[in-house]
Amino acid sequence: MTGHTGFKGSWLSLWLADMGAQVSGLSIDVPTEPSLYALAGIAGDVPEAWTDVRDFAAVAEVVRAARPEVVLHMAAQAFVRRSFQDPRETYETNVMGAVNVLEAVRTTPGVRVVVNVTSDKCYDNREEGRPFREDDPKGGHDPYSNSKGCAELVADAYLRSFFAPDPDGPRLGSGRAGNVIGGGDWGEDRLVPDIMRGALAGAPIQIRNPAAVRPWQHVLNPLSGYLKLAELLWEDPGAAGGWNFGPDAGDAQPVAHLVERVTADWPGELVWEIDAGEHPHEAALLLLDSSKAREDLGWVPGWALDQGIDATVRWYAALRDGADMRAVTDAQIEEFETASQRA
Ligand SMILES: NC(=O)c1ccc[n+]([C@@H]2O[C@H](COP(=O)([O-])OP(=O)(O)OC[C@H]3O[C@@H](n4cnc5c(N)ncnc54)[C@H](O)[C@@H]3O)[C@@H](O)[C@H]2O)c1
Repeated sequence: MTGHTGFKGSWLSLWLADMGAQVSGLSIDVPTEPSLYALAGIAGDVPEAWTDVRDFAAVAEVVRAARPEVVLHMAAQAFVRRSFQDPRETYETNVMGAVNVLEAVRTTPGVRVVVNVTSDKCYDNREEGRPFREDDPKGGHDPYSNSKGCAELVADAYLRSFFAPDPDGPRLGSGRAGNVIGGGDWGEDRLVPDIMRGALAGAPIQIRNPAAVRPWQHVLNPLSGYLKLAELLWEDPGAAGGWNFGPDAGDAQPVAHLVERVTADWPGELVWEIDAGEHPHEAALLLLDSSKAREDLGWVPGWALDQGIDATVRWYAALRDGADMRAVTDAQIEEFETASQRA
């Protein structure tokens, strides 16, 4: 797994460890302080390499040493605002990083499945008001979204040029999801981490773009999609290609809705105000059509938005109260698995 120290990577490392999988991690750093990675003690479970995905020789060496059966590529420069400040770093990490990982896979025998994680922002968003389907054109207004569109094009070229023509070649799927929420996220300029930083510090929170509609979902929803995708790819090379993992239509809600729900649930005072300053361009509307994942993978979001918000608020409240965050996170994974079986 690349990006095993990040927000998604930490949840997935724990989940895979609980399942008994042997996971090796490749990341450049632990991106935040605090982090779920440190709080949950993931270093003890995962042999790891501190490697830059921009360095092909180093990535290839790590992949060759780990000899993985399944590669989950999640390392990225994952922030829109930072992509405005440093577009080159964003493209180098997200585009050449994807090339380097796929090239390492291509030149290492034994890899059977690759799940490439991009974003719901990989689509060329003309704000036409309809949900994106997997074969819609890729694009992106800002360097981050655009780099994810490019990473999709890179994956498509590797699939068509190298992997699909080889009957024993790796089976490559791309997962597109976004606007994930959950405990253990301290990402800069992300809504829930911003709210929780304010809540934990007792400081008022500044909210940007309150009317922007996003397909919010708990992080375990897309992670369960990536795992189902890996399983299907293992069985069926025909599953290669792009897959959307978005919530039910009713869970695409404005920023203001999420803020109001979190404020209502937080066991303490939480004050917010609208930041009317200048902000980089962000699409007003982004919706995903995930019927392919629902029909062909049997994937459904295990938690609806309300349950996802509830779990997220409980996670940060437990942190505030000094709980064992490994135990809290493991318990939420179990809760999610039970809910998924019912969904
Ligand atoms: N969190 C979200 O809301 C969201 C939404 C859509 C897509 N995604 C995508 O999901 C993936 C994981 O996102 P996240 O939220 O966990 O991100 P994160 O910022 O929490 O973690 C990023 C991870 O990538 C690693 N990384 C960054 N640059 C690297 C480099 N040059 N070389 C090696 N490793 C590097 C970091 O060390 C870390 O492990 C990314 O591809 C991101 O674009 C995330």
